[in-house]
Amino acid sequence: MLNGKHVLLGVTGGIAAYKSAELIRLFIKAGCHVKVIMTKHATEFITPLTLQTLSGNPVFLDMFSLIKDHDIAHIALAEEADILVIAPATANVIGKMAGGLADDLLTTVALATKAPILICPAMNTNMYENVMVRENLRKLAVLGRHVMMPGTGELACKSEGWGRLPDLPDILEEAQSILTEKDLAGERILVTAGPTREPFDPVRFITNYSSGKMGYALAVVARRRGAAVTLISGPTSLPVPAGVDFIPVSSALEMRDAVMKRLKDATIVIKSAAVADFRPSTQADAKIKKKGGALTLTLERNPDILAEIGKQKKGRILIGFAMESEDLVENAKAKLLTKNLDLIVANDLKQSGAGFQTDTNIVKILDRQGGIEALPLMEKMEVAGRILDRAKRLLK
Ligand code: CTP
Repeated sequence: MLNGKHVLLGVTGGIAAYKSAELIRLFIKAGCHVKVIMTKHATEFITPLTLQTLSGNPVFLDMFSLIKDHDIAHIALAEEADILVIAPATANVIGKMAGGLADDLLTTVALATKAPILICPAMNTNMYENVMVRENLRKLAVLGRHVMMPGTGELACKSEGWGRLPDLPDILEEAQSILTEKDLAGERILVTAGPTREPFDPVRFITNYSSGKMGYALAVVARRRGAAVTLISGPTSLPVPAGVDFIPVSSALEMRDAVMKRLKDATIVIKSAAVADFRPSTQADAKIKKKGGALTLTLERNPDILAEIGKQKKGRILIGFAMESEDLVENAKAKLLTKNLDLIVANDLKQSGAGFQTDTNIVKILDRQGGIEALPLMEKMEVAGRILDRAKRLLK
């Protein structure tokens, strides 16, 4: 978790420097202690007072006044940091770092720190595409610095292309990922998430209230912990998590095809999707018009994807979910056995704070030996961590 971490933010002289104000707020919201170093050019774009106010700490500007004013050497800043994030990183600072130069406070600290360094480039497209800059970034990456891809789109200089500062939530996620132990490295985790849509004409479908939040949390946390993650998702309004292989699908049949195609590569499968059990038997080509009376739809069974995977489980770990409104444990146990799972995560739809739509969940994790781990109300990200801990124990 980022909570409690010391983030040292280096702000350099590009127009995106103004975004550092919001980045500080995001780090603070995540529970970090933030200190800021600005280069001289950065102060042309945003004032130290703004960043000082937001970070709640003095902003460090140059080597020599620092020692005089705050009685803290650059080495102390370098040592205190859990991570040095340079956002925005200009071509100039990237060049200096790649050359091992230390002619100001930021580049000196970058050489002095043993903390991981995350470089978030932001510059004009032509500069970003320049072979010198590309080579400098490549060199920094090879030497163990973490280099993010810039975003693409309209730039301050009115040109279009690569060079925008990466989105701030993505910078936060990258920092989080860098600081997370890679205890699932080498695992290939297939996660399904969200609802499915079962259409009966071109404008209407049957679906359910699943938001996808639990499955997306699993994908994000598994990726942070070093797993290669494939996320097969029904339609949701959630942003696509960074760094995962994302496969959007709509109906249960599409989800089943997508899962089966990728099953053989997976070492762990977690099926958190709320798959519709039934689909309309027919799909009209044109919008169904009202004709006075009631409309009768005939539904047919969708394949049970999880049960199908259970039949060809082989050595992989298989985890399912059970959404119940009554007899939670008995029903979940039955699904665990009939679908040939290693674990089933059961939640009671009647409990407030559990189930669809919420950011929290209250679950029980059942295993094949009859064990029941009852977790209290938790954030879905935390629940995801606990489920992955159990999967990891089974791998051993
Ligand atoms: N599941 C699936 N394919 C389906 C239905 C469910 O893969 N057609 C998976 C879900 O992703 C979940 C588990 O099976 O991991 C249990 O889903 P749930 O809806 O709780 O139960 P069902 O098996 O559909 O049984 P019922 O609707 O009778 O409770």
